Amino acid sequence: MIDVKHIESVTFNGEKIVLLDQTKLPLEEVYLEITTMKDLWEAIFELKVRGAPAIGIAAAYGVALGASQLEEQAYDEFLVKYEEISDYLASSRPTAVNLFWALNRMKRIVVDNKETSVADIKQMLHKEADAIKKDDAEICESIGENALTLMKDGMTVLTHCNAGGIATAKYGTALAPIYLAKERGMEIKVFADETRPLLQGARLTTWELMQADVDVTLITDNMAAMVMQQGKIDAVIVGCDRIAANGDTANKIGTYGLAVLAQKHHIPFYVASPLSTIDMETATGAEIPIEERPAKEITQGFGKQTAPSGVKVYNPAFDVTPNELITAIITEKGIVQAPYYESLQTVFE
Ligand code: MRU
Repeated sequence: MIDVKHIESVTFNGEKIVLLDQTKLPLEEVYLEITTMKDLWEAIFELKVRGAPAIGIAAAYGVALGASQLEEQAYDEFLVKYEEISDYLASSRPTAVNLFWALNRMKRIVVDNKETSVADIKQMLHKEADAIKKDDAEICESIGENALTLMKDGMTVLTHCNAGGIATAKYGTALAPIYLAKERGMEIKVFADETRPLLQGARLTTWELMQADVDVTLITDNMAAMVMQQGKIDAVIVGCDRIAANGDTANKIGTYGLAVLAQKHHIPFYVASPLSTIDMETATGAEIPIEERPAKEITQGFGKQTAPSGVKVYNPAFDVTPNELITAIITEKGIVQAPYYESLQTVFE
C-alpha cells in the first residue's frame, strides 16, 4: 500500500479550534487558532473553512467550544445561551445542509441530557464533536470504496470545486476514490475545473492532489466542453452541499453546466455524498436555499479589479443539478440511481 499524504483542516483541543486557512492556499499553509464564536462565524462565511462536511465539523467544535466558555450552571439558563450560539453559527452559510445537520446532532446531546450536570454536558459536547469528525473520515473512506467500483485503473475523471480531504475530515467525497486508488497503486488521472469565482479547483483541488502525487491537470471552467468533446474525460465526479429528496443536487456554481455537458457527451455524471448531505425534508431542488455572495468576489477577485466600478453583479455560489442528469449518487451506504425519491429512502433504512 502506498503512503498518501493527508492534510487535517479542522482540529480542536478543548480550548481552541485550529483551522487550515483555505483562503491562503496554495501559496501559504497557515493555521488559524479560533477561540471566539465571532471568529468562527467569519471563518465559515469567508470560506477559511469550507466544503459541506468540514463546515459541519467546524460548527460542531464551535458549539462545543462556545458551551465550554459559558458560565451558567443551571440547565435552563445554559440551554438558552447554548441555543444562541448554535443559531448564530447556523446563520453563517445557508446552502450546505451539513452545517444544520451537525448543529442538530450536537443539540440532541444538550436536550437528551437534561438531568446531567452542565459540566458533564460540556464534556459530552466535546466528545460528540470528535465523533462527528471521526465518523466523517470513515464515511468518506466508504464513499471512496463504493465509488472505486465504478472506476478503472488508468481512467480520467473531471471534478469541479474542491470535494477533497480538506473539505472533510479525511479523503474527501468526490476525491476519495482517487486517494484510495493511489494507496492501492492504481492511477486515476484528474482534470480539475478552475471553479470561478473563488477558484477552489485551481487553488485547493490541484494543491491537495499534488501533495498526494496524483496526476492532475488544471483547466478553466469554460474548457470543460472541449476536453469532453476531445474524449479526454471518462467520468465526472463532484461533491455536493445538499441533495433534495428527489435527488436534485446543489453544488458549487458551474456543476449544473457540467452535468448538461456530460449528458451531451455520454459521460457518466456521479455525485459523491455522505448521508449527512441528503436532506429528505427538502422535497426538490427548487426549495434549496442558494447562497448569494458579495459582488466583489467577481469584480475584484483576489484583489484585482476586473470589471467597471458600479457594474451590476449576480453571484450565486451554488446551482442545482436536476436529478435526471445524475447517473448515480454514491453514498457510504451504497450507490443509488433514479428514481431517486425511492432509492434515497433505502440508504436511510
Ligand atoms: O463554497 P464552498 O467552497 O464551500 O463549496 C464547496 C462545494 O461546493 C463542495 O463541492 C461541497 O461542499 C462538497 S465538499 C466534500
